[in-house]
Amino acid sequence: MDIAEKSTEQEELGASGIDDVQIEAEERRDDDVDLAFGDDSASYTTSLKSSITNYIQENGRRYHAFKDGAYFLPNDEAEQDRLDLFHHIMTLRCDDKLHLAPIAPDTQRVLDLGTGTGIWAIMMGEEYPSAEVVGNDLSPVQPGLVPPNVRFEVDDMEEEWVYSSPFDYIHGRYPAGAIREWPALMRQAYRFTKPGGWVEFQDFTMKFYTTNGEYRDGCSADKWTDEIIAGMKTIGREPEPGPKLEAWIKDAGFFNVVHKVFPVPVGTWPNNRKLKQIGAFDLVQFLDGLESISLRIFTGVRGWRKEEVQVYLSQVRKDLMNPRMQMQHNFHVAYSQKPAY
Ligand SMILES: C[S@@+](CC[C@H](N)C(=O)[O-])C[C@H]1O[C@@H](n2cnc3c(N)ncnc32)[C@H](O)[C@@H]1O
Repeated sequence: MDIAEKSTEQEELGASGIDDVQIEAEERRDDDVDLAFGDDSASYTTSLKSSITNYIQENGRRYHAFKDGAYFLPNDEAEQDRLDLFHHIMTLRCDDKLHLAPIAPDTQRVLDLGTGTGIWAIMMGEEYPSAEVVGNDLSPVQPGLVPPNVRFEVDDMEEEWVYSSPFDYIHGRYPAGAIREWPALMRQAYRFTKPGGWVEFQDFTMKFYTTNGEYRDGCSADKWTDEIIAGMKTIGREPEPGPKLEAWIKDAGFFNVVHKVFPVPVGTWPNNRKLKQIGAFDLVQFLDGLESISLRIFTGVRGWRKEEVQVYLSQVRKDLMNPRMQMQHNFHVAYSQKPAY
């Protein structure tokens, strides 16, 4: 199926009636307090053994063991809960869709790069019973009890892929800060996509912004993103892949890339009921995740002490919880098709 149109504009979620160009804030009184409410056997695959489950402990958090140090986020239960919440946020923002690429209902082979808890892969397996869904990750934290057409592998997506046959659909969501060589990853994705098959990548911009709120450059939350961005650049990882996905996909040889941008609010300040719900979840996600996102970068790369980080994060939390800031950040979805011949 050909992609009918290319869109790099801010997306309108027609079905939910949400105007994404500008999120309208709910009317509020100044004294309102708005706290968080609350068998590719030939694949380069490592079986579950101690070398990959002998996790690294740092600053009270647990990190992956396979390719130790390659990735900055923990893999402990707290982080897994955050990822599952983030899954909910991202699918809600895509109008409850697991993907936007128009893949065939009888899709056969699906690859999920950096699958995390595997929640997306499991739901895809349920939605596409015809498909074999393979999810890979540095961490073997996915559940054992999964649909029979879903399986997980410990693998480094940046290594040479040796899958025995190509995929109908390759998906990579939110690997921000994980990837060293995006163009090389996209070229591998191209090689391993069947002719006429699809790729879809979804990711963020780190920086927050506001359209009508009091958020300003230089506030604690803004400086926090600067620090994370600087740290990721130091370790050679792209901190803000979202806006670059389209160009990388195009350069790899895919055609008619569709690129959509979804602003995601932080907090309950939007007027629109669905965006208010998404914003509430996103606020919780940030409050829960600030420490996990920050610790390795701030202490290991930027030279902060753990105690300093914790004090600083309390200021960032205040910004995040301040509804007058009307903070949002952008979620990018880019999908495209490999020529059929
Ligand atoms: C932020 S999480 C996103 C998880 C999942 N894609 C989702 O959207 O729920 C990024 C995941 O990528 C994995 N990851 C990071 N670098 C990787 C690599 N080089 N190869 C495979 N997985 C990687 C991490 O272990 C983590 O589970």
